[in-house]
Amino acid sequence: MEQNEWNRIKLSVWDMQKDIDYKDDNNYLGKVYPQIPERLIKLYSEKGETILDCFCGSGTTNVEAKKLGRNSIGIDQNPYAISITKSRLEGVVPSNTRHSIFQGDNRKILHSLGENSVDLIITSPPYFNILDYTSVKDGTDLGNIDDYGLFLKNMETVLKDNYRIIKPSRYCCWVVGDITTGGFKPFHFDMQKIAERVGFQNKGDTIIVDRCDEPKTLNEDFKYPPLSTQIHEYIMLLTK
Ligand SMILES: C[S@@+](CC[C@H](N)C(=O)[O-])C[C@H]1O[C@@H](n2cnc3c(N)ncnc32)[C@H](O)[C@@H]1O
Repeated sequence: MEQNEWNRIKLSVWDMQKDIDYKDDNNYLGKVYPQIPERLIKLYSEKGETILDCFCGSGTTNVEAKKLGRNSIGIDQNPYAISITKSRLEGVVPSNTRHSIFQGDNRKILHSLGENSVDLIITSPPYFNILDYTSVKDGTDLGNIDDYGLFLKNMETVLKDNYRIIKPSRYCCWVVGDITTGGFKPFHFDMQKIAERVGFQNKGDTIIVDRCDEPKTLNEDFKYPPLSTQIHEYIMLLTK
């Protein structure tokens, strides 16, 4: 990695608009900007290692992993997300990396992954019930749970398995934002407490400044009018 790039990405605030051209043609709801997994992969993994995204959505982490010569595992309950992930992966120039993409409930699928088996986790869960990924109300889509306490309990189940699966002293990075629609909920703060409870060491946060050009889209997507136009989120940097 070039020294200039290193100096910039080690900063605790990543201004996605100022730093880089982040545009891409992926319209999946709740997608992360590709530069987020790209930077985390460069910072916290080596070529040939394996990266897990257990809420992979449109496969942004998996695609960046493939581009950078890493193996990946992706899990999402939404069949549409899985088809986007697979087709985006096919579009990346072939490399001798392996990518295992599973459709289903991560609370079940994560059990099949071994203890200390993954080198880096990068993921971004649903932020409570603010976006409709699917209309399925059978409890599989964690973004469809309307009880915040129950939602957090389910996040704890997933994070506990993340702790079991990640190798010692390696990083687990969760991109999360506080909830400003339907009443403020300090999701990021609540997740920090859960992370410590399951055993992770908190290595600090990176603040992402993003979505500055999207307030109109945000207002249309959310079920409730936002209290404020939130333009930042956090990357929780956790280690085992
Ligand atoms: C914030 S989005 C992830 C977006 C992804 N980072 C991207 O760039 O496209 C959250 C994802 O969690 C998925 N999800 C919700 N409950 C799940 C579960 N129990 N198991 C696996 N995926 C789940 C949703 O289908 C949605 O795609």
